Amino acid sequence: EKDQIILGIETSCDETAAAVIKNGKEILSNVVASQIESHKRFGGVVPEIASRHHVEQMTIVLEEALNQAGIGYSDIDAIAVTEGPGLVGALLIGVNAAKAIAFAHNIPLVGVHHIAGHIYANRLVTEMKFPALSLVVSGGHTELVLLKEHGDFTVIGETRDDAAGEAYDKVARTLHLPYPGGPHIDRLAHEGNPSLKLPRAWLEGSYDFSFSGLKSAVINTLHNAEQRGENIEPADLAASFQESVIEVLVTKTLQAAQAYDVKQVLLAGGVAANKGLRAALTDGFESLSDIELVVPPLYLCTDNAAMIAAAGSVLFQKGKRSSLALNGNPGLDI
Ligand code: KG4
Ligand code: ZN
Repeated sequence: EKDQIILGIETSCDETAAAVIKNGKEILSNVVASQIESHKRFGGVVPEIASRHHVEQMTIVLEEALNQAGIGYSDIDAIAVTEGPGLVGALLIGVNAAKAIAFAHNIPLVGVHHIAGHIYANRLVTEMKFPALSLVVSGGHTELVLLKEHGDFTVIGETRDDAAGEAYDKVARTLHLPYPGGPHIDRLAHEGNPSLKLPRAWLEGSYDFSFSGLKSAVINTLHNAEQRGENIEPADLAASFQESVIEVLVTKTLQAAQAYDVKQVLLAGGVAANKGLRAALTDGFESLSDIELVVPPLYLCTDNAAMIAAAGSVLFQKGKRSSLALNGNPGLDI
C-alpha cells in the first residue's frame, strides 16, 4: 500500500512550524522557527508581532520542511493545519497558507485542534492504546482529556482560570526571570527547598484545576516578606510553587487514570518539559503497572507541526475534510 504523507502547519502562537510525517507516526521533517527572542523584551507574546513574524517565516519554513523531507507538493496526501485555539491573527497565517497550497495543488485540507496536536505528539513516539488519558499542560491550556479511540476527545477536567504554563510565566515575571519563565522556574526549583507554605486548589469532586490563587499567594508571600524586611530565597519560592503545581497535577491525573481504567497516560504540552513533573508522574505511575505512562521528548512537547500532522493523519483517515472556507477560530472546542 502507498505511504500516507501529511504536511502539518502550526502558527497558533509564537512558533512558525511546518513538518512532514509518513503514515501518521514517522517524522520526515519538523521545522520550527521560534519567535521567543522578539517577544522576550515585552515579557510575553505580542500578538501583532507574532502575526508579522509568521508572515515573514511561513514560506521559508514550508520550503525547508519539504526540502528536508525530500518531497514536493505532489507527494502530499493531505495538509493538516491548526485552526484553533490560539491568537486569531497568528492562526490566520497558517490557515491561509494551508488553504493556498490546498487550492493550488488540489490537496485535501484538514483543520486540527491545537490540543489534539499536543496529544498526538505521543503517537510519534509510541503506538497509542485506548482508552487513554492525556494530561495537557501548556501556556494556554491545562486539561485532562479522555480518548476512547483515535480522534475521539472528551475533556474531563480543565483549569477554571490560569493555565499551568501561564502561572509559571507569571511567577517567573514576579521573580524577574526572562520569558518564557517555565524552564527558569524549573531550574531554580531544583536549587531550592519547598519550605514555603503555598495553597493547593483541590476542587474536590472534579478533575478541574485552578492556579490563579497559587499565583496570587506567591506574589503576596514576596510582598509580605518585603514589607517585613525579610529575605526570601527565589529558589525556595520556585521550589514551593513547583511542588504545589505538580502535586495537584499528578494527584488528579492518577485519580482520573484509575477512575477511567485507562491503558495509557499521555503527557502533552510545553509544561510537559518540566523535569519535576516528569519525575513525579513517573514515580506516581510506577506502582500502577497496568497503566503505561508516555512522556514525549521535549522537542515534541513544545509547539511544533509534526504533532499537528500526526493528529491530522488520524482525522484524515477517519474522513475529516475541511473546506476552503476554513477560518482561524481562537475559541475552538476540541
Ligand atoms: O505548548 P507550548 O509550547 O505553547 C502553548 O501552546 O501554550 O507551551 C509553552 C509553555 C510556557 O508557558 C512555558 O513557560 C512552559 O510551556 N514551559 C515550562 C517548561 N518549559 C516550557 N513550564 C514549566 N517547566 C518547564 N521546564
Ligand atoms: Zn501549544
